[in-house]
Formats: sequence, structure tokens, C-alpha cells
Amino acid sequence: MRHFLTLKDYTKEEILEILEFGLQIKQEVKAKTFIPRLANQTLAMIFEKSSTRTRVSFEVGMYQLGGHALFLSNRDIHLGRGEPVKDTARVISSMCDMVMIRTYEQSKLEEFARYSKVPVINGLSDSYHPVQLLADYMTMMECGKDKSPVVAYVGDGNNMTHSWLMLASKLGFELRVATPKGYECDPAVVADAMEFARHSGAKITITNDPKEAVAGATVVTTDTWISMGQEEEKAQRLRAFEGYIVDEALMGRADGEAIFLHCLPAYREAEVSEAVLEGKQSLIFEEAENRLHAQKGLMVWLDKHR
Ligand code: CP
Ligand code: NVA
Repeated sequence: MRHFLTLKDYTKEEILEILEFGLQIKQEVKAKTFIPRLANQTLAMIFEKSSTRTRVSFEVGMYQLGGHALFLSNRDIHLGRGEPVKDTARVISSMCDMVMIRTYEQSKLEEFARYSKVPVINGLSDSYHPVQLLADYMTMMECGKDKSPVVAYVGDGNNMTHSWLMLASKLGFELRVATPKGYECDPAVVADAMEFARHSGAKITITNDPKEAVAGATVVTTDTWISMGQEEEKAQRLRAFEGYIVDEALMGRADGEAIFLHCLPAYREAEVSEAVLEGKQSLIFEEAENRLHAQKGLMVWLDKHR
């Protein structure tokens, strides 16, 4: 049985296989041929943080696969009142077929997975957001930007950046990360990515210069400067990230055909300008929709590997 807690645990072949499943299921859904591959299965969705896309995509996805999803906010289940993770994991996994968790610490997900009898999916932690990267790469595949991509990530060294580092280093493409000083990625994640890159041939560049990162890039991406749980640091972060906005001037340094991605929610005139977000190069809503398709591919893949 496999869990999906970070792309670190996955090979290139496995990531591509999950995405192929997702693309195949997407075509079937568009043709209105729903195949109930997970008929009568249940997905427990534990949310300790807010969500629009993750909740809707997993719930709709499970329904379209013939199963059912349960929305469990930590305000409603005993986990939020201190029932141990290991007890919650054993109870929920004795009744459900798969579990998705959105939480703070990666270690909580790992502990849950250790005690779970069923596959556990990371629906975002402070460290990683791997399901988002499946959708991002699916979007790149659909418009041919998976052919020798040069991806520039401009912004905070956060869960999204860490996931880009894992994806690039596993799949073997070029990734340039530009963060302000003091907001760099976790050095342990960078070290892992560099190690994977030695084998995959990925080219990873870490800089504090957004212009250098974006020059000639074929994919430009960013994320909020204030992730969930960092609300109190807002004023300080807005100051620190000055000059890191992805606006038309910065986008103009990328390849003329470059696409813009953002996991959403986006903060206009903070990390990205309205013009870029709503502009022709932006594929943010295709990307958001692909959460549904990529995660269906993932759930079917996990079911096959139990
Ligand atoms: N991108 C993403 O995970 O969105 P939500 O926080 O709305 O789930
Ligand atoms: N880095 C953001 C991603 C939101 C989908 C956060 O963790 O809040």
C-alpha cells in the first residue's frame, strides 16, 4: 500500500503514470462516460485549514468515481480537541477506504499514515502541496510546456516551492527559484532536490533575483506571500517581498510564449498583478480544474497499488 505525502517518495515513472490516469479519466468525463472505478468507496477528508479547490475537487472527484467523500473539519471531529492522531487514524481507516488530510506539520501526516490501514493523501501541509503539483504539471502537459520546460518560481520559499523542487528534481527539468533573503526554501528540501537532480539531470538554480530566474522561462509561477498560519506576519512579509510581484514587466522577461501558473487563491497586486493573472498567458483556471482530474488519477492509482 502506498501513501501520497510528498513527491519525494515517488519516481518519475509513477508520477507520469498517475497523470496519464488523470488525463484518461478527464477525457472520459468530458465525453460523459463516467466509469465508477472506486464504486462504493469512501474518502475521509480532514481539514485543519481552509480550502476551496482541494475540498471541492476531492469531493466531486470521489463522487464521479462512484464513491463518497466525508468532509471532516477539525472543529467537528475530536482530533481538534486533542484526540491522538494515532487513535484517529486507526478509527477512520477502519471505516474508510482512503484519507486526505490538510494540516500544518508534515510529521502529523506521517504519523497518521503510520497508523492508517488505508492510503493517506497530503492535501497540503506546511512543507508540501504535492496534489497541486500534479495539476500544475498536467496543465503543462496539455499545452506542450512539459517539453524541456524552464520553470521560474518567484516568491516565498514555502510548501509550493518545496513541491516544485521535488517535481523538477524527480522529472529532470530546469527550475529556477527566486525568493527574498530570509524567505528561502528549507535547506534540507533543497539538498534532497539537488541529490535527485544529480540522477535525473534536472537543473536547479536558487537565487534572490526574480529577473534572473524569469529570463527566458517557459513557465512562470508564484504563490501567496502569506500562507495559511502566517497571518500575523503579514505586514513584515509584505515589506520583505517588495519587488517580487509577477507583473507584466517581469513576465516580459520570460519566453514570449510562456504560461503563468498560480495554485490560487491569488492576492492581486501582491504576488501577482491583475494584468498577469487575467492575461492571455495565464492558465490559472485550467490549472484549478485539473485538480479534479489529476486527483482522480491519483486515487485510482493508489487504489490499484494497495
Ligand atoms: N490551491 C489550493 O489548494 O486551493 P485551496 O486552498 O482552495 O484548496
Ligand atoms: N502556500 C499556500 C498555498 C495555498 C493553496 C498556503 O499554504 O496557504
